[in-house]
Amino acid sequence: MANSLTVLERQSPEKLRNDFRQDVLHGLSANPKRIPSRHFYDAVGSRIFQEIMDMPEYYLTDCEREILQKHSPEIVAAVDRPFRMIELGAGDGRKTRILLEELQKQGRDFEYTPLDISESAVAGLLEDVSADYPKIPMRGLVCEYNHGLEYLCHADRRNLVLFLGSSIGNFSLDEASAFFGRLRAMLNPGDLCLVGFDLVKDPAVLQRAYDDAAGITRRFNLNLLSRINNELGGHFDLDGFQHYASYDAGRSTMESYLLSRRRQSVRIEALGHDFDFGAWEAVHVEFSWKYSEGDIAMLAERNNFRLKRVYTDDRDYFAVSLFEAV
Ligand code: AVI
Repeated sequence: MANSLTVLERQSPEKLRNDFRQDVLHGLSANPKRIPSRHFYDAVGSRIFQEIMDMPEYYLTDCEREILQKHSPEIVAAVDRPFRMIELGAGDGRKTRILLEELQKQGRDFEYTPLDISESAVAGLLEDVSADYPKIPMRGLVCEYNHGLEYLCHADRRNLVLFLGSSIGNFSLDEASAFFGRLRAMLNPGDLCLVGFDLVKDPAVLQRAYDDAAGITRRFNLNLLSRINNELGGHFDLDGFQHYASYDAGRSTMESYLLSRRRQSVRIEALGHDFDFGAWEAVHVEFSWKYSEGDIAMLAERNNFRLKRVYTDDRDYFAVSLFEAV
């Protein structure tokens, strides 16, 4: 069966550049300064993120894989009729392959639909995965999550929506709940969602995961400044900034910052502006929220889902939760 790639909407390079420009302008003019973490993922940042996922300290990847390997027979068996497996965020397909393998083994009737705003990410994933699973029908969709789900979620088939890799952790709790609400509005009763959550744990473990000894996360964060230099004519001296990660135990969130190591003024040509940084002034670049099982149950309760199962790894570091729309 031929696979297809449908482009519902495409983000033009001009729009992407303009979003980045606006966020840098507003974020560096604000007090405290900030740049949203979604701007990490240019081509270089996406490659560094792959390196992060392979680091021994970044336990999230291994834990999620362990859970899927152990529980995929039960997860797959939970969907009771022909269905569409929709994956939000294309990723590299490594975890999806565990589910695809099991689905094939159980001889299930389903279609695999990765959905992402990046056309190259969806096309690359389809090419890779279909080479190994030529018999599975696949339909890639290029668009924003909300738009794609609206287009896909008709009642003719069950839907199983995957949102793995702790991507939900980069939303605040309120944003995560709003996301679940929008998701629920587009699903039919009986549809399922499988979501990866990083759990609260010893802060020392978190600290190592977000400030690794080899400095890979440091490179990942500083790449934001390289992006500003390359794309917006910025004059950042990368040695003048330092990666700093800390855990806020009260809010259960890992936070990453770029700290200005000295007082300095940096011109960004495309913004026609010089930005002043005090010595050790912080630019906030990422939240990575950590969940309790109570938080996960609350997301379900507030948004008309039934929490069917919470699968965890042997160390209880990570949870893959199965939600059913009611
Ligand atoms: C993509 N996201 C789930 C990662 C996280 O853990 O918040 C991004 C990341 N940032 C630093 N390391 C990994």
